[in-house]
Amino acid sequence: MKLTKQEQRMLDGKEGYAVRKSMEILAALGDIYGAESLIKVGSVQVAGVSYHNLGDAGLEFLNELAKDGRVRVLTTLNPAGMDLENWRQLGISEEFAAKQNQVIEAFERMGILISCTCTPYLIGNLPRFGEHVAWSESSAVTFANSVLGAKTNREGGPSALAAAFVGKTPSYGLHLDENRKPDVHVQVEVKLVKLSDWGALGYAIGKKAENKIAYITGVAEADVDELKSFCASVVTYGAKPLFYMKGITPASESVKQPKETLTIEEGDLKNAYDNINDQVSDIDFVCVGCPHCSIKEISEISDLVKGKKVADRTEFWVATSRTAKQLADKRGYTRVIEAAGGKFACDTCMAVAPLKGRFKALATTSAKGCFYSRQNLMKTKMGSIQECIDAAVTGKWNN
Ligand code: F3S
Repeated sequence: MKLTKQEQRMLDGKEGYAVRKSMEILAALGDIYGAESLIKVGSVQVAGVSYHNLGDAGLEFLNELAKDGRVRVLTTLNPAGMDLENWRQLGISEEFAAKQNQVIEAFERMGILISCTCTPYLIGNLPRFGEHVAWSESSAVTFANSVLGAKTNREGGPSALAAAFVGKTPSYGLHLDENRKPDVHVQVEVKLVKLSDWGALGYAIGKKAENKIAYITGVAEADVDELKSFCASVVTYGAKPLFYMKGITPASESVKQPKETLTIEEGDLKNAYDNINDQVSDIDFVCVGCPHCSIKEISEISDLVKGKKVADRTEFWVATSRTAKQLADKRGYTRVIEAAGGKFACDTCMAVAPLKGRFKALATTSAKGCFYSRQNLMKTKMGSIQECIDAAVTGKWNN
């Protein structure tokens, strides 16, 4: 990869340890993927924030970088392993909290904005169409590429941090227009009724399109919450963090519809639900907010849960960004949800919190949430927000 004089200085260690390490990572990636040069990025989103995933080795790595590493562009974080304020209420241990706080302090020293969310685009980290960014979390990467029309690869934690310290990333993969062309036309012939149908659609398209970039037709309308749910699912069950949706995503009119065609029918959606849903009726954990809830979703939850009571043996989490929670506080949604026995899980989520073995069966709106909760040894049920609230109140899944 060709380096400018300034990049070479960075690689030679003239701008400190963290920048040198970062340039080593970026140069190695550039060489592996055949990048010709580094390109500027407008923002970074860093994954690998939960101490649960990082462990002591990861914490040590971050502390080393934090000695002289300072980010050069707007950088935000993916969810951490706990709510940074109300971790006790979510059953997190003192030991875990101490370590997680050390991780956050290291990121803070680097100049990173401590907003731990997979929906950075809802709280101010919003790239423009065509802008190059270096984001990590798969649903956010898919949303940035597809819904916003920005350009990013799916970065690992270290490569995203490296991009933040240098302000650049190697120009390969989805940064190049030739790699952003759709490969397969996916004709959707189903009606999408509830939020979880978007997760089921993501499952169906992800499984059928596999490693191909989908050009989707037949979807008449979609709001931001439906699209974020679809983004999370299609990249979890498929492989590509980019799709086009005719009439809905901004670049869909400027690319050619591919000849190869797949069809998604009612049977595919049913198959998705059959595969995501386990045989279970007792529910001890309900979590809405994967990806993190928008303020609109929180208001819907508040309306549905008003005057009800979460069952004694069931825990109900609303996972969201701290910014959305602050709005919810102002609007009174927090009071209503907490009066019903619900808990806010800000800065964290069901996949990165240390939940293995704590709950037996999850109800959620999210196909992605089901995928990761199975790895945490839970049985899973996916449905609408209403169905999830019903499960929280009765402790049962009704079907
Ligand atoms: Fe976000 Fe966690 Fe889901 S990072 S997309 S809430 S698994």
